[in-house]
Order: sequence, then C-alpha cells, then structure tokens
Amino acid sequence: MPILEAINIIKQYKQYDTVVTAVDKASLKAEDGEFVAIIGTSGSGKSTLLHICAGLDKPNYGTVIIRGTDITALSPDKLGRFRGEFTGMVFQKHNLIPQLTALENILIPTIMCGKESFKYEEHLKKLLSTLKLEDRLHHLPSELSGGQQQRVAIARAMINRPQVLFCDEPTGNLDRKNADEVLELLLETKRVIGQTIIMVTHDMSIADKADKIYMMDDGKLSLFKDRQGFYKNSYELEMARAKEMNEHVISEN
Ligand SMILES: Nc1ncnc2c1ncn2[C@@H]1O[C@H](COP(=O)(O)OP(=O)(O)O)[C@@H](O)[C@H]1O
Ligand SMILES: [Mg+2]
Repeated sequence: MPILEAINIIKQYKQYDTVVTAVDKASLKAEDGEFVAIIGTSGSGKSTLLHICAGLDKPNYGTVIIRGTDITALSPDKLGRFRGEFTGMVFQKHNLIPQLTALENILIPTIMCGKESFKYEEHLKKLLSTLKLEDRLHHLPSELSGGQQQRVAIARAMINRPQVLFCDEPTGNLDRKNADEVLELLLETKRVIGQTIIMVTHDMSIADKADKIYMMDDGKLSLFKDRQGFYKNSYELEMARAKEMNEHVISEN
C-alpha cells in the first residue's frame, strides 16, 4: 500500500461570479520512503494540491489516504492530531517565531503534541547533527542565514518523526549555494530517518533528484518521470504502460 494516495482531487475557488478550478481531478501516489517532486508553472495549483494532501485544506471532491487513513473524512480535532503525529510541513518562507531561539522553535511541535521533549533527545541529536545546526541552537532566527533558518524549519518539521514531510518550494527563497546545501541536508535526513518527501518545486535541478516527478499544468497533474524514465504527458504514459504490458505478455508467451 502506498504511504500516501490522493485520488481524483478537485478544488475550486469562487471569485466573484467565476469559478477557478485550482486542482482538476489530480491523483498522486507516494510509496514509503520515496522522494516525490511536483513541478509546474506559478498558479498551476501545486500549493493547493500539496495543502490538500497535507490536510491543511479540504478538497471539494476526492480523497487523501495517508497510512490507510482517509484524512479528508477526519474531524478537525482528529485531523490536527493525525497531522501532528504523522506529517510535517516546510514552507518557502520558514515561518519561525522571531522571539524564540532556534532550539525553542524546533521543539514547538513536541509541546503542541503534549509530549515531553526529553523523549526526543536521541532523535533531536541526530537531526541537529544531520542538519548541521549544533552550534546555532541558541541563536534567534534573525541571527541566522537564510539557509540556516530553513534548516531550523526542517528540523522543526521533523522533530515529531513524521512519516511524510511536505515541502512547498523549501529552497525558493535561497540563493543557489544555500538551496543546494539545504536540499542536500534534507535528503540526508531522508537517508538517516527515512521519511517520505512530497516537494513542490519549480527548480528542475532539485526535481531531478526525486524518485518520481509529477507535473502540474493548469490544475491537471500527470506523471512526468518515475524510476523507469520520462513521460511528457499522461497520454504518453498510458502508451508506455500499454507497451510495457504488451512486452510483458509477449515475453511470458
Ligand atoms: N484561497 C484562494 N482563493 C481563491 N483562489 C485561490 C486561492 N488559493 C489559490 N487560488 C488560485 O488557485 C490557482 C492555483 O494556485 P496555487 O495552488 O497557489 O498555485 P501554485 O502553487 O502552482 O503557484 C491560482 O489561480 C490561484 O489564484
Ligand atoms: Mg505555490
């Protein structure tokens, strides 16, 4: 079973008397431990879809299943608890609390979940060393570089050991060098901790590192690349699948 499956998601916004279809029957699958990228032009509906997959927004139609739970059917209370326990979110802008130190920011989710922070000691140590944050713990966000701030935001999203980490253009505010470093360290947490990553990005050099790339075009999602190769659109994907099936049948005969 995939760890996350979004099925036929539709999201529409009413603007005055017109209806904008931000997400148009999108379906997406992520296997446990996979790095899935969603690319596409600005305004194509990437953030809307990601927020729906993360349970931050409700679709008009469709289902999101994480670890076998239909999160679109959960009450707000249960959804909040589910999100806190199994998911993490990293935004383009880090959204750190300016008055709190890096360490205090990182520990916020453990307090919100009512768990005591000492239980996180080992995990916290591992996270801090993986993200190279050990010597920045008592600094305020304003005393950190953009890349360091974003690494703190990743640590905060990872502190509850989420199985699925959602990222919305997590390197979009950073220069190339910092962006590459943050991505490298994020993938290192994936190696060390093993979470699934669903990442929206318009940076092809980042998407290239993903196991699977989906492309969003005017609300429509298609698989662009998986471990087998590239597909320009879902039609080509269907054709490639059909061909594969055929070859399979032929080789079996
Ligand atoms: N809260 C909202 N109210 C109305 N329209 C919205 C809202 N959020 C997004 N949209 C519209 O939905 C479309 C997709 O937006 P978004 O998901 O933010 O795209 P992307 O992340 O790919 O840039 C855009 O046309 C945007 O204007
Ligand atoms: Mg966006």
